[in-house]
Amino acid sequence: MATERVKVTVAVTGGIAAYKAVEVVRQLQDAGFDPHVVMTEAAEKFIQPLTFSAITGHKVISSLWSEDAGASGGEVSGIEHINEAQTTAALIVVPATANILAKFAHGVADDFLTTMYLATTAPVIVAPAMNVVMWQHPATQTNLEVLRQRGVTIVEPNSGYLACGMVGGGRLAEESSIVAAVAEVLSHNTPPLQDLAGETVLITAGGTREPIDPVRFIGNRSSGKMGYALAARARCRGARVILISAPTSLPMPEGCEMIPVTTAEEMRSAVLARFGEASLVVMAAAVSDYRVAEASLQKIRREGPRTLQLEPTSDILREIVERKKPGTLVVGFAAETENVLANGRAKLARKGVDALVVNDVSGTVTGFDSDRNAGWFLTPAETTELQESTKIAMADRILTQAIELRSARHSSMANR
Ligand code: CTP
Repeated sequence: MATERVKVTVAVTGGIAAYKAVEVVRQLQDAGFDPHVVMTEAAEKFIQPLTFSAITGHKVISSLWSEDAGASGGEVSGIEHINEAQTTAALIVVPATANILAKFAHGVADDFLTTMYLATTAPVIVAPAMNVVMWQHPATQTNLEVLRQRGVTIVEPNSGYLACGMVGGGRLAEESSIVAAVAEVLSHNTPPLQDLAGETVLITAGGTREPIDPVRFIGNRSSGKMGYALAARARCRGARVILISAPTSLPMPEGCEMIPVTTAEEMRSAVLARFGEASLVVMAAAVSDYRVAEASLQKIRREGPRTLQLEPTSDILREIVERKKPGTLVVGFAAETENVLANGRAKLARKGVDALVVNDVSGTVTGFDSDRNAGWFLTPAETTELQESTKIAMADRILTQAIELRSARHSSMANR
């Protein structure tokens, strides 16, 4: 008897790479899936639905208002988009245009696909393809960041010749990479973890700014991406999240209480006012160690050499470690450029935190402003490598390590 194939939904949107979805559908079938196809109106300008229905053996759905909705040989019934959303194991968008990414990011629901996106709890995988300038546009990149934070898997486009004649990023990923991403996502897909339900998690993020005068400041290269990824994942895992954020250019993670701050002192006040509510504190912010002793009230003019007198800021992490309730777990971050593990271990002991995430920020693939990261999760007893991954995946592993550390402590207390 043939084993039942897993139903997945391939959504084709209106880009020149739409024809490549045919090969993706074929390869999904070869990999043992049962792909059903949804098309946007624009996609039908590039490729006929008949191509997909012939290959898959299923009706192609493209309209919310089709006359045969609910009467398609028993395959789909009731409210089609809800039905499709609830019966599929994954929604795979190939190619994903800038338009569909924007609609998903903003929750627009004006056709079958966008409505289905809102109605599904299945994992969503998008394979963007567009002109390189559109791909690099801050609006597109911001929308992608929103989707990433929500747990959508992005199969990054390749560089190469584009249909518009330009060379650069924006070319649809290889069909085999898209199918591999689907298999990978589905192999890990378990019901959404809610292991932080009922907890309050306080996270700091971004790089603080210390004024020199009204127009200049001392800052650092932190993008805030790691802290925002932690906030987004903690929220998805059921926590109430307080995000104390120094300036970043990132969209606010959904569902978090955001407290914007600028200077180290503002961050200190906000953290001290709120950390008592949290059972887990993760200090991912890059906090300035120094501030200008007397910032100028007027713009400083160019008048020969100058010396800025700096004074140290308070070490917020040390303060909360000294004041916290015994049950609160505090995780610090350390950005290091040399002797990463040795410096990390020394900092863990010096700060007295429960755990320290150490990153090597000297590389280009990981660290500042990158979407990827790597490092170690250090506790007084253990060193766990956090292998290179997206910051979202790394955020999940950090939260898992913190939860495990806490339960290990609880059980060792109980056994005493
Ligand atoms: N941190 C803090 N308050 C500061 C400076 C840093 O709370 N004034 C926190 C950061 O949020 C991070 C951790 O301390 O979680 C380590 O930050 P890092 O800058 O690496 O360490 P420093 O204490 O500044 O040590 P050093 O400058 O010697 O590397």
